[in-house]
Amino acid sequence: MHTLSVLHPGGRYPIYIGDGLRHRLGEFLQDRALTRLAFVVTDEHVAPLYGEDVRLALEAGGYRVHTIVLPAGEQYKTLDTVRRVYDALLEQGVDRYSPLIALGGGVIGDLAGFVAATILRGIPLVQVPTTLLAMVDASVGGKTGVDLPQGKNLVGAFKFPRFVLADTETLATLPPEERAAGMAETIKHALIADPELLEWVERGTFSWPDMVARSVSVKVQIVQEDPYEAGRRVLLNLGHTFAHALERVSGYRLRHGFAVALGLVAATLLGVELEETAPSLVRRVERVLRGAGLPTRWSDMPELGAPPSPEAVWQAMGTDKKRVGRQVRFVVPAAPGHVFLTGRVPKEAVLAALEGILQ
Ligand SMILES: NC(=O)c1ccc[n+]([C@@H]2O[C@H](COP(=O)([O-])OP(=O)(O)OC[C@H]3O[C@@H](n4cnc5c(N)ncnc54)[C@H](O)[C@@H]3O)[C@@H](O)[C@H]2O)c1
Ligand SMILES: [Zn+2]
Repeated sequence: MHTLSVLHPGGRYPIYIGDGLRHRLGEFLQDRALTRLAFVVTDEHVAPLYGEDVRLALEAGGYRVHTIVLPAGEQYKTLDTVRRVYDALLEQGVDRYSPLIALGGGVIGDLAGFVAATILRGIPLVQVPTTLLAMVDASVGGKTGVDLPQGKNLVGAFKFPRFVLADTETLATLPPEERAAGMAETIKHALIADPELLEWVERGTFSWPDMVARSVSVKVQIVQEDPYEAGRRVLLNLGHTFAHALERVSGYRLRHGFAVALGLVAATLLGVELEETAPSLVRRVERVLRGAGLPTRWSDMPELGAPPSPEAVWQAMGTDKKRVGRQVRFVVPAAPGHVFLTGRVPKEAVLAALEGILQ
């Protein structure tokens, strides 16, 4: 088992990573300050796979368990669903010390995390991520929230969990495209700060616990230095200015992980345009993404139809939540482990980078 420790403004919490850890959840939750009624929030795909294991583990730790099963999918990451969870918790007699366990992917983590942050002004949260993306990205950093019709993640709160328990055995049941989506964020982490991790991915010789620990460490380090996204945390946005715009112009038919893959290629191409990055890095990034089952250009996903124009994607960047003022900022990889943020990018350079992926 790997144990990482995350320092945050209110204290510190551990991330446990290993095969089969879900069976030990009750043991990890041994904390006498908690009410002996635990709430598990999960979705309809994860519940039949791991709900029972988690219930038994909690009962073995002396907890009574109430499980709330939600429909799966981003389209349910809404205030209506939050309301449904509030109702269930209140009906079952939730109090300020009742632990809430988020068992599932990033959708469940964000939604259940938001519930835990807000009901009774906050109850203890435990993240049990079951997708690669949630393990290496969404479960760490304290951001929780839900979508509004106007846009994704527009309502939210920072909520740090008591601990994160990543049972890497659960990755075995993950659909391949979901695993690929998680790899996009791992490759992003490798490019930002861990050249050796990039080599692991290229060679394909790794165990999931090692890989998850290594990947999440990059996010942990950056989030620790900048918990409320005032500075360095923006580096985690590598590829994401492009990705968010691509998702938007596709009418959200392009899944996030695939958009990130294209975004990583575009960010590297932008580095080449700005004469900060060697052209060979573009080929390397494309190769490692393809090896992980990810697209590197629009035409790799024929189901999406003809590519949008670079100009349309550029326009879509103007409405990104992460922009500051009117300036669109880009994170650019100079070399693996060396990325930088720049706001002074000529539109022509961005269009040229987009040209490279919109084929
Ligand atoms: N809070 C953050 O910092 C942060 C960071 C990145 C992403 N996110 C959010 O995360 C969400 C995406 O997360 P995701 O990619 O995990 O999507 P998801 O939660 O929708 O999970 C993907 C699919 O896999 C299923 N699933 C989950 N675990 C499984 C398992 N072990 N075996 C089989 N199926 C399983 C789910 O039911 C779902 O159908 C988005 O809403 C995004 O905004 C949040
Ligand atoms: Zn992402």
